[in-house]
Amino acid sequence: MARCETQVGIVGAGPAGLMLSHLLRLRGISSIVLEVRSRAHCEERVRAGVLEHTSVEMLHEAGVGDRLDREGLRHEGIEIGVDGIRHRIPFMELTGKCVTVYGQQEVVRDLIARQLADGGDLRFECGDVSLHDIDGERPWIRAEKDGAVDEVRCDYIAGCDGFHGISRSSIPEGALRVYERIYPFAWLGILAEAAPSRDELLYMRHERGFALYSMRSPRITRLYLQCRPNEDIDQWSDDRIWGELHARLTCSDGWRPTEGRILQKGVTSMRSLVVEPLQHGRLFLAGDAAHIVPPTGAKGLNLAFADVHHLAEALHAFYQRNEGGLLKAYSQTCLRRIWSAQRFSWWMTSLLHRFEDEPAFDHKRQLAELAYVTSSRAAATCLAENYVGLPLGGAQT
Ligand code: FAD
Ligand code: PHB
Repeated sequence: MARCETQVGIVGAGPAGLMLSHLLRLRGISSIVLEVRSRAHCEERVRAGVLEHTSVEMLHEAGVGDRLDREGLRHEGIEIGVDGIRHRIPFMELTGKCVTVYGQQEVVRDLIARQLADGGDLRFECGDVSLHDIDGERPWIRAEKDGAVDEVRCDYIAGCDGFHGISRSSIPEGALRVYERIYPFAWLGILAEAAPSRDELLYMRHERGFALYSMRSPRITRLYLQCRPNEDIDQWSDDRIWGELHARLTCSDGWRPTEGRILQKGVTSMRSLVVEPLQHGRLFLAGDAAHIVPPTGAKGLNLAFADVHHLAEALHAFYQRNEGGLLKAYSQTCLRRIWSAQRFSWWMTSLLHRFEDEPAFDHKRQLAELAYVTSSRAAATCLAENYVGLPLGGAQT
């Protein structure tokens, strides 16, 4: 058995765990990151693509924004399509801010490279990770690594292990309140080797179901289709996928997505979930371990970054000035922003998806809402300011 000590034990090397570890190192606080998957798996997992301007600023300020500057695609707006007609929401004009398209796996690659270059303690392929004494003064993490058992003793544990991790379920039943909504559809997503033929993302509401045209780089497009929650991906040949994408995304001016070799495909379920509070004893939850949003608002990764920003600041105040106030307030501080992102993600989801068997009234209401958002500057500004990202403190008042 190998026993070691650190100030903060971090479970999970996704965006939340890696960014937290980096922010802590910049503040002179030690950490060890324990990750169940391999480095290659973490670096290749295709997920989020849109960074709010606050996340971009955070990466810059933390000194890990060089490649993002070179390769990130700056987007000054999005398009909302309603049955083939496109309407632009000009973010820059409405808010003075924009978003950047840069794949989550690129963010993860940059953070891992920096962590290793700085001599950080990052352990991949850990087995059977478990948390102990989270109610006590000296919590610890147990993990199997290369046939031996590691015991990491720390002051605090950060549970950054995503929705399926063990941190949230290590909190005793009854100590957490769970708020949850499950949607009656999922997204079928593909990555295609095709140069983007639009400059901005296109969110299309269509009678056959929602579709999203997105991208990753000047050579790669990312597209999504609303599908059934239990959709069997094996039933979707490449031809069927392109046929459906053309049916939903083709516009009245003749534009349609360019086809290319499908490099990857998968189905993502849609859920909204928040647990409260984000802390139990010396365990702090951050990112998807504490909350999930449906991807329609592009908020998940950005929320994870906001959480770890607050956690790093709170730990810094504690270690540097012996002030525990920010740690105590961590949950409340994060929850303000989490709930505003939850509201926005739910709203974007209900605005754009087709709800099977919905009353005719709701169908008409949805169309009226789309007409309002795409014609009123006030309504478009409301969408824009939420999409580019509210200030780190939560909703503007
Ligand atoms: P994760 O990325 O899930 O990382 C958790 C890590 O913990 C993983 O590496 C996992 O292997 C590890 N782990 C799990 N269990 C254990 C364990 N027991 N021990 C140790 N390690 C463990 N968000 C956006 O902001 N913008 C978008 O455009 C966007 N699009 C998305 C599109 C799709 C299709 C999907 C699925 C998600 C999207 N998201 C988006 C959401 C975003 O990907 C997540 O919110 C983000 O990954 C959260 O980061 P995290 O670090 O909290 O969790
Ligand atoms: C993506 O490019 O993967 C993406 C973009 C916007 C979203 C969700 C996903 O709302």
